[in-house]
Amino acid sequence: MKKSINYADLVKADAVHGSVYTNPDIYRDELEKIYTNTWVYVAHESEIPNIGDFKRRTLGKQPVIFVRDKNSKVQVLFNRCRHRAATVCQEDCGNAAKFRCEYHGWNYALDGELTIIPYEDGYEKIDKRQFSLSKPRQIDSYRGFVFASIAEPTESLQDSLGAPTMRQIDYFCDLSPEGEIIVQAGAAKLVYKGSWKLQMENSIDGYHANFTHQSFFAQIARMTGKRVDTFDTASAVNARDLGCGNTYIDYQAQNLKPEKRDRQLAGLKATSWGKKYYDDMVAAYGQDRAEDVIVTAGTHMSIFPNLVVLGQQVRTIRPIEHNETEVELAPTLLKGAPDELNTMRIRQFEAFYSPRGGGIHDDIEMFNRVQEGVACSMDPWLIFRRGLHRERLMEDGTMAGCVSDETPQRAMWQHWLKIMQSNE
Ligand code: FES
Ligand SMILES: [Fe+2]
Repeated sequence: MKKSINYADLVKADAVHGSVYTNPDIYRDELEKIYTNTWVYVAHESEIPNIGDFKRRTLGKQPVIFVRDKNSKVQVLFNRCRHRAATVCQEDCGNAAKFRCEYHGWNYALDGELTIIPYEDGYEKIDKRQFSLSKPRQIDSYRGFVFASIAEPTESLQDSLGAPTMRQIDYFCDLSPEGEIIVQAGAAKLVYKGSWKLQMENSIDGYHANFTHQSFFAQIARMTGKRVDTFDTASAVNARDLGCGNTYIDYQAQNLKPEKRDRQLAGLKATSWGKKYYDDMVAAYGQDRAEDVIVTAGTHMSIFPNLVVLGQQVRTIRPIEHNETEVELAPTLLKGAPDELNTMRIRQFEAFYSPRGGGIHDDIEMFNRVQEGVACSMDPWLIFRRGLHRERLMEDGTMAGCVSDETPQRAMWQHWLKIMQSNE
């Protein structure tokens, strides 16, 4: 019998109790309240471009198949045979004409319809239409990002994302002259011994980079002769709450400064492929929006509970256990952009995030260390107070802090608290 947890005792305005990372009962509660009752990111439509393409995914711990059916419709099917529950798809990805359960041979079409029961006459009466592979109650997408809610959601996907988050997704996708990103360039997968929330906190953490990634920046300094400081509180970079538990580091004001903007656009137009890309973007969006999008250069955003859209990549977080998490980092290509630009994006991704990259392992190591340290029961509170005194209320009603402030983490934890207190 699960103990009742008083969540208000675990999350303060400026601190979080260590048990939120370590208590298996809280994790089980999260699987229900967050990963079953709310919208969860599944995958991007471009990952399954052809009929029959599929990927295995999970919603919380529940295995699903992300598949394009024979009518080209994207489906999310539970990977659970309706006979006696064996998974019907074992490959991580591929192309299939159907899914056949290997336990007793039941066959399912790409839309989940049960098509064959071997030796069907053993059932006195069975209506196969009643035994399709089950589906989450709702599936919806925004700009190709597919989300599912296992239980009936209390709000639409659009309301759950919120307009500021959708605007950031637009910045990310509009870098393509055709308005589409392509997630087909492989992915790096990492597993760490810690809570899934550590990766969500870290993805929009402007405080850690100079320290956690010290060796990476030292290497850049050796190669370029320039010292990198990501920590400049006087910079125009903000750490923001986007509402709905979504958060981001806002580089836009800095990138749009006239000298930076002009330098970046001039640099792009100096190459023939860059000039073509610029012209294609202007043709697609008009000069103002095109330049705004190019200079803003995507986004750096965490979408609660399991998606991060950052730089060139889409990052999916899978909560395997309360103390074990898998992170998939997939670099993205821009449809219709020159090969040179897409190649550059992949190289930039590899430099920091690939298995041989110089940065992501630092973060993973820190998650392992937090999970180990948080086992100490004395003084159990983690401090999220940084910048609380200098937060600013923005026009959209959300808060903004300096780049290194813990405004995004506070926003994430307050959202987590709200969801975890529901149906208490
Ligand atoms: S469990 Fe799938 S056919 Fe029996
Ligand atoms: Fe990092």
